[in-house]
Amino acid sequence: MLRFLTAGESHGPQLTVVIDGVPAGLRLDARRDIDIDLERRQRGHGRGKRQQIERDSAQFTSGVRGGRTLGSPITLVVANRDWENWKGPMQVDDRDFKAKRVTRVRPGHADLAGALKYGFDDARNVLERASARETAARVAVGAVARALLRTIGVDLHSYVQRIGEVALTEPTGGDVDWSAVEASPVRCPEGDASRRMVEAIDAARDAGDTLGGTAYVVARGVPAGLGSYVQWDRRLDGLVAQALCSIPSVKGVEIGAAVCAARSRGSTVHDVPRFDAGRGFHHLTNRQGGMTGGVSNGEDVWALVHFKPISTLLQPLRSVDMATGEEINAHYERSDVCVVPAGAVVAEAMLAWVVAVAATEKFGGDTLSEFRSAARAHRRAVQRLR
Ligand SMILES: Cc1cc2nc3c(=O)[nH]c(=O)nc-3n(C[C@H](O)[C@H](O)[C@H](O)COP(=O)(O)O)c2cc1C
Repeated sequence: MLRFLTAGESHGPQLTVVIDGVPAGLRLDARRDIDIDLERRQRGHGRGKRQQIERDSAQFTSGVRGGRTLGSPITLVVANRDWENWKGPMQVDDRDFKAKRVTRVRPGHADLAGALKYGFDDARNVLERASARETAARVAVGAVARALLRTIGVDLHSYVQRIGEVALTEPTGGDVDWSAVEASPVRCPEGDASRRMVEAIDAARDAGDTLGGTAYVVARGVPAGLGSYVQWDRRLDGLVAQALCSIPSVKGVEIGAAVCAARSRGSTVHDVPRFDAGRGFHHLTNRQGGMTGGVSNGEDVWALVHFKPISTLLQPLRSVDMATGEEINAHYERSDVCVVPAGAVVAEAMLAWVVAVAATEKFGGDTLSEFRSAARAHRRAVQRLR
């Protein structure tokens, strides 16, 4: 069984990840396989000063030898460069420790809810871990999942479909120019929309405000038969939704063109199956996001991920001081203006993880060759008429 844990505070020395259950024999190289995605997460018009400080890079500390996984737990770390500036406030021991308490809790952040939950009088204890800095660790995990999936012909992509009011036509799962996405400052495949998205972000920044939006995320080449309809918690669509919704600031996940379908008649939204000798079973359209009854149906698995505008505003929102109960301006902590382009990369990582978990559940294997052989045999089997 594949599983992972992340650890680390936003301004602590490092992020740490433990990944268990990766088959032995998978080629992994931190620079080639992980840093590339960490760098993609750092990019995007609308990111704040923190990204100028960090140069995220992963280092394996267990589970990989001579460039191949050992089947033992993989540990990797990503250093926080900013820790140099926070050694005092983030020190571990209590010798001469002087906490500068954060009590002016920020609306839309975990500050107050977390302080109430854990009984803290200092919201820094909450925000250090609730911070989306943790998503760098998840991107590293996703990169390992992606490397595993690549061996069975699955790849992942994302693009930004909307920032604020600027939107591309809603996708229905077709072809996209992925090199244009990677070249765009907002991860948008279309030049004119890209430019208007950049302008919208700049205008929000000038007004001391923030913007949200929507990302399209897709896993291509997913074999039919991952997930299951037999129990609620094995449905792949439910697992995908949970994983994507767990990304900080994601407040909605659509599997395929769900909202559009909700507005339409049944006669126009369903994906009709066909069989031919060349392609085997397939569907004429893919509006359902590649999953039917909680099972992958052989089409690309795709979703739309909706991000709220981030809540730390240069013009701070009104809030409450949790020490005095007074109404005040919220604490300002250095912040991004729009995180949708970076969030799209995190969404790829989470989708990669869920598909990798479902694939290892289906194909098993202590070794990569066992995993790949089972996947190959399964692909052949699902091509045949029943
Ligand atoms: C990549 C990424 C970067 C983020 N950066 C910021 C930020 O700089 N400022 C901010 O207020 N929120 C930021 N967020 C969102 C907050 O982490 C999130 O809104 C907060 O933790 C509360 O969680 P919730 O919105 O899911 O309820 C970011 C989210 C992501 C995915």
